[in-house]
Amino acid sequence: MRTVFWDSAEKCVKLIDQTKLPDSFELLCCKSVEDLAEAIKRLSVRGAPALEATGAYGVALACFEREFSDVNEMKEYVKRKAEILASTRPTAVNLFYGIDRVIKAISQCEDIESVRKVALNEAERIAEEDIERNKLIGKFGAKLLRDGDVVLTYCNTGRLATVDWGTALGVVRSAVEEGKSIKVIACETRPLNQGSRLTCWELMQDGIDVTLITDSMAGYVMRKKKVDCVIVGADRIVRDAVFNKIGTYTIAVLAKEHGIPFYVAAPTTTFDWNRCESEVIVEERSKDELIYCNVKCMKTLIAPKNVKVYNPAFDSTPLSYVSALITEKGVIQPPYDENVPKVLKP
Ligand code: MRU
Repeated sequence: MRTVFWDSAEKCVKLIDQTKLPDSFELLCCKSVEDLAEAIKRLSVRGAPALEATGAYGVALACFEREFSDVNEMKEYVKRKAEILASTRPTAVNLFYGIDRVIKAISQCEDIESVRKVALNEAERIAEEDIERNKLIGKFGAKLLRDGDVVLTYCNTGRLATVDWGTALGVVRSAVEEGKSIKVIACETRPLNQGSRLTCWELMQDGIDVTLITDSMAGYVMRKKKVDCVIVGADRIVRDAVFNKIGTYTIAVLAKEHGIPFYVAAPTTTFDWNRCESEVIVEERSKDELIYCNVKCMKTLIAPKNVKVYNPAFDSTPLSYVSALITEKGVIQPPYDENVPKVLKP
């Protein structure tokens, strides 16, 4: 099943509610842009490529939300709703790419029905393209893995972080599909545990061998020679760094120290090559995520309630730590300032 999709009967965006996993598998139906924006903020849907499709479907949803007296009024309304979607999370560049692409697609439409049709078609195309790109990332990335390899991964970069298949986990899936025996070590990924809740759940669904560790065990397992390579995803790749879930940088430094390849798997829509590290806004999230053991019910405190908290959701890893970038256009090796522009050019 796709992580996010359009339900034409109910005229709503449906998504797997990732805040409920692994306790229960539930679909969430978002009938308004505000519902969808809240779902993005609380991470019911998350992961850069999934946010790309969600942003695109969100703009399409705005076109169906109500009746309009004329097409210009409709386009103004849709633009305002697009701003609500764009204000949800600042770091993953894919969200903006998905939103902008649908806004651009409808700009030439001259009547209400064609705006609806074009918006939905474009969103569907973005979702399809995501799956196609992930399969290619998987195909190219699988060549880097040998039969018997153990891959350490961070956060969730699988089906749930994309429309389907996954980026870093897509590489693992493709290698397994080719017949290689691959084992995964998943870091739990504090504070919201995308690794333990989502990565472990989805790999176990597919019968892929996965072992959970705490984030603080990564150095220990590397030193014990239990890891052949690291593969992570990305929320934004700028010309000097990779932004990904907080904790990724620590893993990259540890990998370098232990001589272990550190790969980043991401579609080219995650690249924002005209920017550098200092220009990217890193999302800061609620202190509740750190002080409660289950942020959803906010019952069990695991830190004093009034403690000062710093909770950035992402960190940046300088590209010098990255052994290769795995994209749908192939594996990009350093030097990135020379090789990335060659791949990104249309
Ligand atoms: O806060 P999240 O769960 O949206 O963060 C997601 C990540 O950092 C993923 O590792 C990244 O988006 C790559 S997903 C293919």
